[in-house]
Amino acid sequence: MNKNILVTGATGHFGKAVIGYLLQKGASPSNIFALVRSEEKAKDLKAKGITLKVGDYDNFSSLKEAFKGIDELMFVSGSDIVKRGKQHENVIKAAKESHIKHIYYTSFVRKNETQASPIALLARTHIDTEKAIKSSGTKYTIFRNNLYMDGLPMFFGNNVMETGIFLPAGNGSFAFALRNEMTEATANVILGKGHENKDYDISNSENITFHDIAKILSQISNKKITYTDPDPKVFKETLSKAGVPEEGIALASGFAEAIKQGEFTSDKKDLEHLLERKPTSLETFLKQMYAS
Ligand SMILES: NC(=O)c1ccc[n+]([C@@H]2O[C@H](COP(=O)([O-])OP(=O)(O)OC[C@H]3O[C@@H](n4cnc5c(N)ncnc54)[C@H](OP(=O)(O)O)[C@@H]3O)[C@@H](O)[C@H]2O)c1
Repeated sequence: MNKNILVTGATGHFGKAVIGYLLQKGASPSNIFALVRSEEKAKDLKAKGITLKVGDYDNFSSLKEAFKGIDELMFVSGSDIVKRGKQHENVIKAAKESHIKHIYYTSFVRKNETQASPIALLARTHIDTEKAIKSSGTKYTIFRNNLYMDGLPMFFGNNVMETGIFLPAGNGSFAFALRNEMTEATANVILGKGHENKDYDISNSENITFHDIAKILSQISNKKITYTDPDPKVFKETLSKAGVPEEGIALASGFAEAIKQGEFTSDKKDLEHLLERKPTSLETFLKQMYAS
């Protein structure tokens, strides 16, 4: 790799794994820089020869300082849903002023871009960030990441084999993919050629519903695991009675409704092409997760 790339969110799951794949696929640590808020948290990266740059999306001048000498930016979206609109503006402005040549950005799949989307709150920043990157004139690659398959158990709760699945997601199908495979595909793009000014849909190659998942879990456990698709109002009341905080209820309800409306269904094979193999299926993931 004949360029200096700075990976943001490098102490998080996604950024750290991208760096891991860049190294594994032959990039020199001397070309990789990691934006971190805490050097303490990034000792493992430093030990691998990665140069740490301390910066915070909230602090514009720290970003300008961190972007000195950097050719390309692997921009991992911020995790603070409320603050990240302004944070992302800071990152893009600093990148432009620092003459960064290419921005890779972890965006989010969606179909409905209006405020009526059940996940408008999450999608809004990604839509705005994509627009800002594109209008900055910097070359870009946008990864519209589907939901992490790794997060699927959050939709079931811890005792799915006893309780079954209880979620108002109807017969909606989705193409969640493993975060680790998303990061591998991302590293392939950074190291590859011909990805300038492209939007990729990073989704699994197959779609699945919660009915399918209940069947797979039934096979794994040798007993009947049910999928109950409650009325959304009943769902909210049930979660509230179980002590789930308001925010968690809103998030779970929004995601369930989005799944029902097909927001996470995909017929794209970008992830498969970028990985040069089929992504791990939901069935394989569930077997690995629940077979023991
Ligand atoms: N597609 C999905 O299913 C899905 C699910 C969850 C999240 N996401 C999005 O994908 C991103 C990456 O996912 P992940 O699993 O790697 O999340 P993660 O493990 O929570 O990592 C988030 C990273 O962002 C850094 N960060 C947060 N606020 C920052 C700030 N103000 N300035 C600089 N760095 C900041 C964190 O730094 P610290 O270590 O210092 O906190 C951490 O390194 C998330 O941030 C979120 O936008 C997608």
